[in-house]
Amino acid sequence: MSKPVSPAFTDPAGTWNRRFEQAGFLFGTEPNGWLHEHAGVWTAGQRVLCVADGEGRNSVWLASRGLQVDAFDIAELGVAKARRLAAEQGVTVNFTVSDCDTYAWPEAACDGVAAIFVQFADPAMRARLFAHMKRCLKPGGTLLLQGYTPKQLDYKTGGPGQLSHLYTAAMLREAFADLDIVELREYEAELAEGSGHRGHSALIGLVARRR
Ligand SMILES: C[S@@+](CC[C@H](N)C(=O)[O-])C[C@H]1O[C@@H](n2cnc3c(N)ncnc32)[C@H](O)[C@@H]1O
Repeated sequence: MSKPVSPAFTDPAGTWNRRFEQAGFLFGTEPNGWLHEHAGVWTAGQRVLCVADGEGRNSVWLASRGLQVDAFDIAELGVAKARRLAAEQGVTVNFTVSDCDTYAWPEAACDGVAAIFVQFADPAMRARLFAHMKRCLKPGGTLLLQGYTPKQLDYKTGGPGQLSHLYTAAMLREAFADLDIVELREYEAELAEGSGHRGHSALIGLVARRR
């Protein structure tokens, strides 16, 4: 018998809205660690797009660093919380409620893309998503991406729980072979990013620049 497909994949907007309607911030209000470590690749005034930004912890933090930030997510309740977080922190982010397949991706317009835990995408959607992410970068623009590796299935401290959604270094090297890979690191770490990403985790991080 095949494994039942999680509602997170059959009804992503409904599933994520139900998660985000809970009080508090599922992934916290501090930026993701990989993003925090590498955001120095961008300088104030540059334009960065946050893909599937959830409740806004990453976009709001980038805006607070003086970047011009666009962000989208499929879950309107997540985006509503992100708008409130931005208002509380006195920063401006251009938020949109959108599925990644229908988002009005700009062409060669962004100095950066932040794709942090976007492993809702199955292999077919992932190919479309990665193609959009690459095309929206200007030449010289930098992608920062963070996800989980298959080892995360042993830890169960976050992530989609579906092998086909997880990343290996070989997969990312191939998917981004047309970009210059600046850093690609598989590592394990203790995460404390809200209640959603908490505990010992098998991670992968990528920094890649469009030629
Ligand atoms: C694990 S959360 C990560 C959120 C955010 N990037 C962060 O690091 O806090 C995954 C996000 O993907 C969004 N999502 C799921 N399917 C999507 C889709 N098809 N298009 C756009 N966003 C989607 C969810 O609403 C959720 O906010």
